[in-house]
Amino acid sequence: MTLLNGHASLSPAAQRRIEHHEADIVIVGAGVLGCALAVALGNQGRSVILLEKSLEEPNRIVGELLQPGGVQALEQLGLRDCLEDIDGINVKGYWVTYFGEPVLLEYPKSSPTSPTPLGRAFHHGRFVMKLRAAALSCPNVTVVETKVTGLITSSYTQEVLGVECITKDVKDCYFGQLTVAADGYNSVFRKEHHQYTPKRRSKFHGLELIDAKLPAPNTGHVLLSDNPPVLMYQIGTHETRILIDIPDNLPAASVKNGGVKGYMRNNILPKLPEGVQQSFSDALEKGQLRSMPNSFLPASANKTPGLMILGDALNMRHPLTGGGMTVALNDVCVIRELLSPERVPNLSNTGLVLEQLAEFHWKRKNSSSVINILAQALYALFAADNYYLKALQRGCFRYFQIGPVGGPVGLLAGLIKKPLVLVSHFFSVAFLAIWVHICDTPLSKLFLAPYYAVMILYTASVVILPYIWTEIWY
Ligand SMILES: Cc1cc2nc3c(=O)[nH]c(=O)nc-3n(C[C@H](O)[C@H](O)[C@H](O)COP(=O)(O)OP(=O)(O)OC[C@H]3O[C@@H](n4cnc5c(N)ncnc54)[C@H](O)[C@@H]3O)c2cc1C
Ligand SMILES: *[C@@H]1O[C@H](CO)[C@@H](O)[C@H](O)[C@H]1NC(C)=O
Repeated sequence: MTLLNGHASLSPAAQRRIEHHEADIVIVGAGVLGCALAVALGNQGRSVILLEKSLEEPNRIVGELLQPGGVQALEQLGLRDCLEDIDGINVKGYWVTYFGEPVLLEYPKSSPTSPTPLGRAFHHGRFVMKLRAAALSCPNVTVVETKVTGLITSSYTQEVLGVECITKDVKDCYFGQLTVAADGYNSVFRKEHHQYTPKRRSKFHGLELIDAKLPAPNTGHVLLSDNPPVLMYQIGTHETRILIDIPDNLPAASVKNGGVKGYMRNNILPKLPEGVQQSFSDALEKGQLRSMPNSFLPASANKTPGLMILGDALNMRHPLTGGGMTVALNDVCVIRELLSPERVPNLSNTGLVLEQLAEFHWKRKNSSSVINILAQALYALFAADNYYLKALQRGCFRYFQIGPVGGPVGLLAGLIKKPLVLVSHFFSVAFLAIWVHICDTPLSKLFLAPYYAVMILYTASVVILPYIWTEIWY
């Protein structure tokens, strides 16, 4: 299906796109990243072809809470409207409970008199349809429904020239000076052109609850206990998403213990807030459980001429902190600047494009590093599976109760983009964890205090340093 964007008389560029399948940029994947990028570059006067395997409304359990930092990026891209008319819910911060004990963490204001920054929760598919509509109404973008099957590479220069695809069972191809792989977590292009492969430690299992009564409306709920973390947030007037993290090989969810469903019924249901329990067991009975892998994938610098990998295809972190769309939208803001027609008049200048992409790799870290490191480190604490991690988890919760929470929440929201702020908070958590642990140690064991201190600090370092290392050096 070729959509002509409703324009009767076609510009020469549009004609080239539609008749010759040729543009400045060919983007694979009309997800969050692909659509936003198509609009951003189309508005700069580039000719863009956006390819998507299914233009039907996606129905997925991912990308349903956009952090305030992501809302700001949308605004910069002129796409803020995409959050309207989708029955979305404002989010003013987080509600974290630790064995039932709650703390409210609001997103920090930029100044005492400014309003609380807001995130937004919604049905993923509705948001994506809005982004696609924005791309469709951009005169410099042509959207085509087709399944991309591979890259077309010049055997002479190794440069990527475009893509092969299958449109309604017929083989087809599209050519661009720059090809963008934005085909999401399961990218087929990553294998050959990305340095790393995704690592998975757990899955999120999701249910949609109807008319659940959340203890703290307009917040993301994080439930901490002996179990790995559980997330809940309202995504529509009547609908609430619950995501339950299950690490690979979790004994409590083994076949012997009744599998995932048994785990939900025996371990999760009793610990949910009362107003949520009925809707949870209803949803469970209906058998609508769905799951997605939670992956970690460090970004790698784009080095293939004519190709650019972006979005989840490029970089992933645990979705605990809901950072993926914020990273993707921030990346679009950075790319738009680095590849602007002023800086790169002609995208066929692959040398110059590669230089700009090398700069992109470092420049994007301003916003992505903090979100990536925080997601992985918090997940390690929240899914604590050993003694010292549990001590850190408790320290973290106490820190939320008494500490300067604007910092950690601002980092998570994508509002504070300073890795050093993250590191200082993380080690403050570690020292608080040591203090709390020692206060709870019986006198007879107090001689072990120095040992506990070293072990907790060591565990904290092992949790966070590898991620910092990956972000800073590669
Ligand atoms: C369980 C879970 C929960 C999450 N929750 C959140 C959250 O609350 N907030 C948040 O910000 N992030 C969240 N994320 C992350 C977020 O979903 C992603 O970061 C975001 O969707 C990435 O956007 P993308 O455009 O790169 O990929 P996608 O949104 O996956 O888009 C890829 C597009 O490419 C298309 N495509 C794929 N292959 C082909 C092909 N061969 N040919 C043509 N088209 C193709 C697909 O149909 C799709 O439309 C979550 C992730 C998971 C796993
Ligand atoms: C489309 O591109 C042309 C140049 O090719 C540019 O003049 C025009 O402003 C662009 N249109 C929009 C809506 O951005």
